[in-house]
Amino acid sequence: MTGYLDYIGYAVALLAATYAALSLLFMARRNQLEQVFARERSDAFQKRVSIELDQAQQVRDHQQRTWDGYRKFEVAEVVDEALDVRSVYMRPRDSKPLPPFKAGQHLAFKFNVPGQEKPVIRCYSLSDGPTDTARYRISVKRQGPPPNNPDVPPGVGSNYVHSLKPGDLLDVRAPGGSFFLPPESEHPIVLLAGGVGLTPMLSMLNYVIDNGQKRETWLFFGIRNKSEHMFADHLRHVMAEHENVTIVNVYGRPSDDCVEGHDYQATGYVSADLLKEMLPSANYDFYMCGPPPMMSSMFEGLTEWGVPESRIHFEAFGPASVKKTAPPPPAGDTPAEGIEVVFARSSKTVTWKGDNQSLLELAEEHGVALSFGCRAGSCGECATAVKEGKVRYLTEPGFTPETGSCLACCSVPDGRIAIDA
Ligand SMILES: Cc1cc2nc3c(=O)[nH]c(=O)nc-3n(C[C@H](O)[C@H](O)[C@H](O)COP(=O)(O)OP(=O)(O)OC[C@H]3O[C@@H](n4cnc5c(N)ncnc54)[C@H](O)[C@@H]3O)c2cc1C
Ligand code: FES
Repeated sequence: MTGYLDYIGYAVALLAATYAALSLLFMARRNQLEQVFARERSDAFQKRVSIELDQAQQVRDHQQRTWDGYRKFEVAEVVDEALDVRSVYMRPRDSKPLPPFKAGQHLAFKFNVPGQEKPVIRCYSLSDGPTDTARYRISVKRQGPPPNNPDVPPGVGSNYVHSLKPGDLLDVRAPGGSFFLPPESEHPIVLLAGGVGLTPMLSMLNYVIDNGQKRETWLFFGIRNKSEHMFADHLRHVMAEHENVTIVNVYGRPSDDCVEGHDYQATGYVSADLLKEMLPSANYDFYMCGPPPMMSSMFEGLTEWGVPESRIHFEAFGPASVKKTAPPPPAGDTPAEGIEVVFARSSKTVTWKGDNQSLLELAEEHGVALSFGCRAGSCGECATAVKEGKVRYLTEPGFTPETGSCLACCSVPDGRIAIDA
C-alpha cells in the first residue's frame, strides 16, 4: 500500500515539476516574444517617425527652394540624344539648390525668340530623375513643318531650344504638373512612350532605379528606328543592371543597320495586343505619353483589357487626345439654346453650345484675344479671372490657377459665366 502511495506521490511530484518547468519555459518564451514584439513595434514606430520626418523635411526643402513666377537659369550643357532630339542641362543663375520635383513633372519656359512679337511660352518635361538638386535636364524634339503643309514655319519654341548654347539665359517656372509617379507607391508599373514622349517616362524610370526600388517596371518605347532611339545606351545599361526592369524597344520601320535583340525587341507599334502578349497580367499602373493616335488607341485597348481607368495615367504634349469617361459637362447639362458667356473686357456676350469647346477656343472663334502657351492645362499662360459664375475642367489641369481664375484652354462654362477677357 505504502509503495503504491509513494508511486502516486512521485507521479504527482513529476507532474508538478513538469508543469513548473513548462510554465517557466512558457514564461521565458513569452518574455522573449514580448521583447521581439516590442522591438519590432519600436522599429516600425521609428521607421514611421523617420518617414514622416523625411516627408516633413521634403516639404520644408520644397517650400524653401521653390519659387513663384519665372526664375533665371543658365544653360550649362547641350547634348544631342538622337535625330532632332537635344538635351539641355540648366542651372539656376543664383546657384541656390533646386526644389525636389516628382518624376514625370515638367517646366514651363518663357522664351524671348528673335522675330517674335510676344514671349513664347512652352512646357518641357524634366527628362531625368529628381536626384540632381543643382541642375535640371529637358530633352526637346525639333519640330519641322507638318509633312502635309511643308510651307508653314517650323516650330518656334523647339527650334529656339535647339539654338541654345552654354551660357544662354532662360526664364523658367518651378516644376509642376499632375502627371507623376506617386513617390509613396511601389506597385508594379508599365511605362508606355512614343517618340519624344519618352521624357517623363525616363524621369520615372530613373527615379525607380536611383531610389533602389525593386518594383516590377516595364518600359515599352516606340520609335521609327535606331536614328530616333534617344538614350539608347542608358536604357540598355539600366536593363542590364536592374533585374526588376524590362525594356521593350518597338521599331516601326527598322533600317538595315538596326539589329533585332540588340537595338529593338519588337516591330510595329506599342499596342494593347503587344502588352497582352508580353505582360503576365494587366495588374499594373500604366503611365503613357506619346503621339495622340498612340494615346487614344492604348487607352481604349487597356480599358477593353479590363484595366480600370484609375490605373491609366497619361500626359498630352498638346491638346488632350484622350478623354476619360464622364468628362464634364455631361451632354444633357447643356441647355439646347446653349450657355451665355460674357467676355467682359471685350464687351462681347456669346453662346457656348457644348461639344467640349474650351473657353479659349470660344474666345478665338469670336475674335477675343486670350494669351496661351501649351493649350493643355500645363503652363498657366491662359489663366483668366472669373468675374461671375464658374467653370468645369475637361481634363485635370497640371497647373493650379489662382483662386478666382480659370485656365481657359481646358475649361468650359458651368452655367452663365463672365470672364475678364
Ligand atoms: C506638359 C508638356 C510637356 C512637354 N514635354 C515635351 C518634351 O519633353 N519634349 C518635347 O520635345 N516636347 C514637349 N512638349 C511639347 C512642347 O511644349 C511644344 O509643344 C513642342 O516643342 C512644339 O512647340 P514649337 O514651339 O516648336 O512648335 P509650334 O510653333 O507650336 O508649332 C507646332 C507645329 O505647327 C506647325 N505650324 C506652324 N505654323 C503653322 C500654320 N500656320 N499652320 C499649320 N501648322 C503650322 C509647325 O511647323 C510645327 O510643326 C511638352 C508639352 C507639354 C504640354
Ligand atoms: S495654355 Fe497653358 S495652361 Fe492653358
